[in-house]
This record gives sequence, C-alpha cells and structure tokens, in this order.
Amino acid sequence: MQFTSALFAATALFSLASANTVEFINQDSTTRNIVFTAQEGLPVVENIVLTGLSTANVTFPDSWIGNWYSYNDGAVNVPGMLGEVRWNGFAGANYFDVSAIVNPTDVEGVKMIFPKNSNEPLSGCQTFPCSNAYNQPNDIATLSTTDDTLVCLVGTLSTSRRRSLARMPREFIEA
Ligand SMILES: *[C@@H]1O[C@H](CO)[C@@H](O)[C@H](O)[C@H]1NC(C)=O
Repeated sequence: MQFTSALFAATALFSLASANTVEFINQDSTTRNIVFTAQEGLPVVENIVLTGLSTANVTFPDSWIGNWYSYNDGAVNVPGMLGEVRWNGFAGANYFDVSAIVNPTDVEGVKMIFPKNSNEPLSGCQTFPCSNAYNQPNDIATLSTTDDTLVCLVGTLSTSRRRSLARMPREFIEA
C-alpha cells in the first residue's frame, strides 16, 4: 500500500516535471504559422496556426531537441528567426535561445524566449538586429532554466501596447 502511493506520488511528480511546454504569444493581429523541426530521429511536433493576438500552448516530448520559426499567413514559407530548444538536457535543465543565424532579416516572427515562471534569462529582443540573440556560430548564447514552461513572443508589439503592457517587465517592452 505504502509502496503504491509512493510510486503514484513519484509518477505524479515526474509528469509534472516533464511538461515541456512553450506558450506562444502572438503580439499583433497577423495570423502566423509556427513550423517545428525536430533534430533527426526525434518525434515530429505538429505545426500550429496562431491567430492574431492569441496564445497557444505546445507540449514537447521528453528530451526533444529542435527549433521553430514563424511565417505570416499568406507569406512564403521560409525559415526565419529561430527559437531553439533542448528539453531535459545536461543536468536535467532546459536550454533555449533565439537564433538569427539562418535568417537575420526576419523581423516579423520569433522575438523572445524566456521561462514562464521566472521571466529570466531572456533570449532575443522586440527589435532586431540585437545583441541578445545567437547571431554568429561562435556566440555563446544558449540559456538554461529548470522551468518546464517557456514563453515565446512572436510578431510586433505595437507602440501603444508597449505603453499599456504594465504587467510585463521593462526589459520585454524596451528591448
Ligand atoms: C496555456 O497554459 C497556461 C498555463 O500555463 C494557461 O494559463 C493558458 O490559458 C493556456 N493557453 C491556452 C491558449 O490554452
């Protein structure tokens, strides 16, 4: 009996600790497609359509490594600014960054990634180009967190919304 409940508690803890979720926040009224690419051999994560000014949660398999980009509805599907993630990596932590390496000209898609519960560390910026992203192959820009939920901002935060976003820390609004 005791063993069973201990096992149950451990299972509950484990599933909590492996939620691996990204909450996507579309900051403007443009509908966007989010395209996921898994590292070779890892499970496919289905692409999503993120309607304007909406949010969506995407859950990733344990130990998933890969990236995503966003392209606007009606635009050509080309890779853009990348959100990169490695879940349950070294020491069990989750690793992430925003990378401009593939397409530094994308100023419409992925903007920032940060842990949902601590808001830091923070990768990316509201306005590119910026130094707070992975810009060169030798940049040491990958950040880590023990938080199992990340937030990814996409699209353009309007000037009026910047002013009214009182709940957001200053660096999100001004970066
Ligand atoms: C995403 O998950 C958070 C909890 O982490 C929840 O508050 C929010 O409503 C969810 N968003 C959607 C679109 O389901």
